[in-house]
Amino acid sequence: MKVSTESVPAQTFFKAIIKKNMKSEKLFELASKYMPGGVSSPVRAFKPYPFFTASAKGSRIYDVDGREYIDYCLAYGPLVLGHGNGEVKDTVKEQLEKGWLYGTPHENEIELAKKIINNYRTVEMVRFVNTGSEATMAGIRLARGFTERDKIVKIGGGFHGASDSVLVKAGSGATTFGIPDSKGVPRDSVINTLQVPFNDAEALTDMLEHNSGEVAAVIIEPVMGNVGPIPPQDNYLSEVRKITREKDVLLILDEVITGFRLALGGAQEFYGVDADLTTLGKIVGGGFPIGVFGGKREIMELVAPSGVVYQAGTFSGNPVSVTAGLKTVEIIEREGVPQRINELGERMDTALREILADSGVEGCVSGVGSMFKVFFSAGGEKMRNYADALRSDKNKYLMFFHSMLSSGIFLPPSQFETNFISFAHTDADIERTIEAYKENLRKAQK
Ligand SMILES: Cc1ncc(COP(=O)(O)O)c(C=O)c1O
Repeated sequence: MKVSTESVPAQTFFKAIIKKNMKSEKLFELASKYMPGGVSSPVRAFKPYPFFTASAKGSRIYDVDGREYIDYCLAYGPLVLGHGNGEVKDTVKEQLEKGWLYGTPHENEIELAKKIINNYRTVEMVRFVNTGSEATMAGIRLARGFTERDKIVKIGGGFHGASDSVLVKAGSGATTFGIPDSKGVPRDSVINTLQVPFNDAEALTDMLEHNSGEVAAVIIEPVMGNVGPIPPQDNYLSEVRKITREKDVLLILDEVITGFRLALGGAQEFYGVDADLTTLGKIVGGGFPIGVFGGKREIMELVAPSGVVYQAGTFSGNPVSVTAGLKTVEIIEREGVPQRINELGERMDTALREILADSGVEGCVSGVGSMFKVFFSAGGEKMRNYADALRSDKNKYLMFFHSMLSSGIFLPPSQFETNFISFAHTDADIERTIEAYKENLRKAQK
């Protein structure tokens, strides 16, 4: 699949880039011979080619051509402490001395489980898995097993990983590359996946009424993170909670992005909404692969081996990810990380709204806390859901992304991915970034 960037200005622009980045270009040519699209995950590919990373530290990422960037992509969310945090590194080194994979239970699993349970009042038990995709896949299976119903409702544009039953109208890379409904997913796998728009409680009520007694769960990103950040409006989440309770349907809050970011207790604490099942990932592995699903004891006890819903994994709860995650959560608690990054996010948000208004560029700023994005939306249309995001100008974003890159700022390459702020970002980083937005939005207007 190719990113569609066919406009003449874009081509001229890309030619100029190609002259400058010799090593990355050559590596990408080579990588493309051996890996589809030259990458290990679609959203990493962008035109004319992605930069190859040599190293990363704190808020900075360095490419193989010797360039330094302030990183707001941050590996798509896990690096809430920035790159290469010293304490996490030391902990991982200690763990490596003790072995990196046991295939047996170990004590830090209990410690990390306790940390999660202490911070998420709706979570009484957890199961560790390896990725967010696995967490949502198992969470959905568990909801189906518990309710003995097959249907689920997801949000159009919501991304819950790349497993079959949720790969319908999926955001993130799938939307960027024009394949939100992937080929290869059997119709039978998605026949029980229903869709409603975000920020539309009425649509959810209607959907649950039409499918009364058949829906196991509603799965939802509390802040849509994979079509750019789109926060819930007004009391949308509490409405969702109310409706799902009334209709006796489980609510799965997919906090793979928002968990330990918006607040220690994630979006549930931030917005005051309770889930029946919660999925976590990204941050809770401290930058190492992890996923978690958890919830009420009566539901979780259905998971094998205590119950009849099967779930298993060779690398699940591996000591490196768990120990890195435990240290990361300790630091997040000790340093009040969510508060600090939310403050930086608010500063960014206020500044970007002013800059955008002054620049005359058509667009809007969307986000919450440390998650933000400028959308190039016609007439400055605000973002409420997937349909709104799809109407924004992808090509304009890609050119803007490259001009920010030239200014030393690495934003996620897709219009549909969230910019993240980490604890390693300094006040000076934020100021420099705001200046770069000012300069490049001015250019975008020309
Ligand atoms: C909300 C959400 N859920 C699930 C996933 C899947 O997580 P992973 O990429 O670790 O499989 C993602 C990944 O971006 C995500 O953003």
